[in-house]
Amino acid sequence: MRTRKTTLAAIATAASLALTLSACGQDSEGGSEENSGSTKGATVGISMPTKSSERWIADGNNVVKDLESKGYKTKLVYGEDDPDQQVSQIENMITQGVKALIIAAIDNKSMNNVLQQAKDADIPVISYDRLILGSKDVDYYASFDNERVGELQGSYIVEKLGLKDGAGSSSNGPFNIELFAGSNDDNNTRYFFGGAMKVLQPYIDKGDLVVKSGQEELTKVTTLRWDGATAQRRMDDILTKSYKSGKVDAVLSPYDGISIGIISALKSDGYGSKSKPLPVVTGQDAEVASVKSIIADQQSMTVFKDIRELAKVASTMVDDALNDKKPEVNDTKTYDNGAKVVPAYLLTPVAVDKANYQKALVDSGYLKESDLK
Ligand code: GAL
Repeated sequence: MRTRKTTLAAIATAASLALTLSACGQDSEGGSEENSGSTKGATVGISMPTKSSERWIADGNNVVKDLESKGYKTKLVYGEDDPDQQVSQIENMITQGVKALIIAAIDNKSMNNVLQQAKDADIPVISYDRLILGSKDVDYYASFDNERVGELQGSYIVEKLGLKDGAGSSSNGPFNIELFAGSNDDNNTRYFFGGAMKVLQPYIDKGDLVVKSGQEELTKVTTLRWDGATAQRRMDDILTKSYKSGKVDAVLSPYDGISIGIISALKSDGYGSKSKPLPVVTGQDAEVASVKSIIADQQSMTVFKDIRELAKVASTMVDDALNDKKPEVNDTKTYDNGAKVVPAYLLTPVAVDKANYQKALVDSGYLKESDLK
């Protein structure tokens, strides 16, 4: 029999868990986590990586909205780019009885134990945007064609430099390019970089593109936690050490926050004038600051991933999994996480620049014209 002491202790623990959660997350209905076992009205836990980027804030809100429209309650937490914090937030949600989890991991390898706990509690896990590695307890993966993202970035550079038509060595080339990749603990990083290099490497091999810094391998070009300031420092350093003469013609950047950092470093070095124009700089996520930068002829392009659609895919996967329906997938080969090939639904990314931002982003309702003023 339970003593009064343990009951009180249990209440205290539950209260402190609730406090921890409400301090760093938000409940859609604030009420009790209890649910009847029927799936409608069950609570779904959503774990997002950081609020430091507007896309993840929108991702969280979109998933909450979609799940609520399907009759679920939600708990949305942000790990503030701290893998340990994310793991303990997920543990708390499991303890509190969530019936399914949607996770965009900070560190793709830090999840094993907590996913085992989810498995033991019969909680389906959807890996959201970023694949969780090393665990067979990931049920489904909802994302974009991540290799295609990189291909779009690489192809844009090739096209804008006129390399396809042999411009590199034959006309005013060869061109100087510098390479940036995302966080080394995010599985997407190697897909983005791999996709881009599939396009760029042949031109590097031919000498049409030159990486003056010599920093070409993925391990040398990653940017921990996708941090713009880190990228800015690295670009500063490259400009100081490798561009005493010559200029940068293109920068492969995997993500808008990194692109903004790179452009700041370039501007501090005098780029952005008629005599020293900014290089072609790629990006990803169609974040407002970057779309404004594109309109102002600074960043060249971004890759738009319609995360409204991603949220729909993930919440439908949850709904299906909780109702003994097999979620729809369109890829059962690409995403081997080391423990299994995770069945995935991949959406299509779109390259966006000044020529098509209006149609792709504004007319589609993704961004408001007034946001871009
Ligand atoms: C990746 C994601 C990108 C970008 C990046 C930084 O995992 O696929 O779209 O958001 O994280 O947040």
